[in-house]
Amino acid sequence: MSQTETVRTQVAIVGGGPAGLMLSHLLATCGIDSVVLESRSRQAIHETVRAGILEHGTVNLLVDSGVSDRVLREGDRHDGIELRFDGESHRIDFQELGGESVWLYPQTEVFADLAARREADGGDVRYGVSGVAVHDAASDPRVTFTDAEGRDVELRADFVVGADGSRSHCRGLIPEDRRRRYFKEYPFAWFGILAEAPRSADELIYANSPQGFALISQRTETMQRMYFQCDPGESAADWDDERIWATLRERVNGNGFELVEGPALEKVVLPFRSFVQAPLRHGKLFLAGDAAHTVPPTGAKGLNLALHDVRMLFEALDSFYTGGSEDLLDGYSERALGRVWKAQHFSSWMTSLLHAAPGESDFDRARRRGELDSVVSSAHGRAYLAESYTGWPDHG
Ligand code: PHB
Repeated sequence: MSQTETVRTQVAIVGGGPAGLMLSHLLATCGIDSVVLESRSRQAIHETVRAGILEHGTVNLLVDSGVSDRVLREGDRHDGIELRFDGESHRIDFQELGGESVWLYPQTEVFADLAARREADGGDVRYGVSGVAVHDAASDPRVTFTDAEGRDVELRADFVVGADGSRSHCRGLIPEDRRRRYFKEYPFAWFGILAEAPRSADELIYANSPQGFALISQRTETMQRMYFQCDPGESAADWDDERIWATLRERVNGNGFELVEGPALEKVVLPFRSFVQAPLRHGKLFLAGDAAHTVPPTGAKGLNLALHDVRMLFEALDSFYTGGSEDLLDGYSERALGRVWKAQHFSSWMTSLLHAAPGESDFDRARRRGELDSVVSSAHGRAYLAESYTGWPDHG
C-alpha cells in the first residue's frame, strides 16, 4: 500500500490557471506560502486558445507585481475599438474619452508569464494531479490528491482557494442553503477561428448586422482571431473555410472595407452564458475567477475579472497574516462581487447590443439600431462604453 505524504502550507490553491498562479505569486511576494494543484498539464493549459484583451489595471498588476513586463514589449496597446453597423464603422476612442487603453495580449501568454515566474521563484505548483478532494472546507481544510508521479498526498492548509475554473469542483462545496446561483442562457454561441492571414484592421471591430454579430481581433502579423455569432448547437466540423468566410464577409464587409482572408485554423464553438455563485466564501474556503462567475466573451472581461478577484483576495490574506485582521477576509465576497456584477451587466449589455436574437421581432431589431445610434452619437454613450471596456477604477 502506498503511503500518504502530508504537506503543510498556508494557502492551498485549487486550479493553476492565471487566477491560481497569480494568487500564489502575489502571496509569495509577501512571504506567504501556498501550493497550487492543477489537473491539466502545463502544456495543455498553454495550448488553450482564450480571449486576448487586458484592461490597463490587469497590465499594471502583471508589471508592478513583477510577473513580467513582456506584455509591454510584445503586447499591442489599443486606444480604441470600432463598432460597425449598417456598413459604417464608428470609433470609440478610449484615450479621448477616459485616458485609458487596453492591451491585446492573449491569455495563453499571461499564463506562460505566470508559470515561468512561479517556476523561477521556486513556487510549489503541481500540474497533472488527479482525484483532488477538499475536506472540511468550512473549518479545518485538507486537500487530498494523487500527484503526477502517482503519490498520494494530503495537503493541510489554513485556507483553500477554489480557482478551478468554470467547471469548478470547489464551488459545489458551499452548501446549497448557503449560496445562490444566478444564470442567464443565450440563444446563440460564438464560432471562433484563427485565420492565417495578415491583419484586416489595426483595432478590434465589433460588428452588428441583420445576420448577427462578428468580431475581428488580432494575434500576430500573420495570424488573426475572429468570431461570429452562431447557433449553440453548431458543430465546428460542419464549417469549411468557404462557409466561414462567406458568413464573416456578409457581416463585416462593405463600403470599401474588406476582410483579408486565409486558411481558418482552430475552429471552435464557444459556450455563451452568464453565471454567478454568491457568496464567494464559506468558512475557510474562498472562490475566485471563473469558479464563481462566468461572463459571455463580448467585452473580454473574464480574465480581467478573475485577476481582480485574486488581487482582492491577496490583500485580504496579506492583511490577515501580517496584520492579524480578518476584516478584509470578511469583506472579500462583497467587495469582489461589486465589480463582478458591473462586468456581468456590461458583458450582457454589449452582447444584446451587438447580437441578433433568433426570431427577434422587427421592433427588437429597430430598437437595437436606436440603441447603437444612442451609444455612438453621444459622448456620454461612448464614454460609458470606453470606461467599462478599459476597466473601472477601483474604489478602496
Ligand atoms: C480575442 O481576441 O480573443 C477577443 C477579443 C475581444 C473579445 C473577445 C475575444 O471581446
